[in-house]
Amino acid sequence: MKDFESLIKNRRSTRKFTQQLLSPEQVEKILKAGLMAPASKRKNPWQFVVVEDKEMLHKLAECKPHGAAFLEGCALAVVVLGNIMESDAWVEDCSIAAIFMQLQAEDLNLGSCWCQVRGRQREDESDAGDYVRSLLDIPYQLEVLCILGFGYKDQVNKPFDESRLQWEKIHLGTYRMPQEGAAE
Ligand SMILES: Cc1cc2nc3c(=O)[nH]c(=O)nc-3n(C[C@H](O)[C@H](O)[C@H](O)COP(=O)(O)O)c2cc1C
Repeated sequence: MKDFESLIKNRRSTRKFTQQLLSPEQVEKILKAGLMAPASKRKNPWQFVVVEDKEMLHKLAECKPHGAAFLEGCALAVVVLGNIMESDAWVEDCSIAAIFMQLQAEDLNLGSCWCQVRGRQREDESDAGDYVRSLLDIPYQLEVLCILGFGYKDQVNKPFDESRLQWEKIHLGTYRMPQEGAAE
């Protein structure tokens, strides 16, 4: 188990995985983390589709032309769905559940990456979510937010470089910084 500071520093996107499969205990821990996420009004508007079948992973990897190919090589994909009828904060709730699963994976020394589906298009400009919906038999009230790919890391990622922290995005007290050289 890592301390929280090293967990968030070491969680980097992994897009290359070994062939090794995850154990049922690892998969359970990842899913548990998603189910434990906070949600607006405790609505829990998420549903997770767990995919390990190689053929389906290959099809999911084709959901959009850029940024999805890594799914083909992962051991496990979790398709994160949000029920738009259950909560107007489904994007936020499902995103938090997704990052909880990614952080749990890092704690298990497993790699993961987020593949954005919501608002993304296929090569022919059709909706990437509709493609995933038809592949996995997803009902209309559920939107596809993203697909998370998990697996044993087959790449070495550097921890987050703290010299790149964008402190200029922090605003103290109010947004506006006192104007340099402004007349008093
Ligand atoms: C909302 C969101 C959408 C993302 N979509 C994709 C994606 O479609 N494909 C991909 O390869 N990575 C995707 N990523 C991963 C980002 O590219 C990655 O987090 C970012 O470059 C920072 O790198 P790091 O995760 O290694 O720190 C996404 C991340 C987030 C949070």
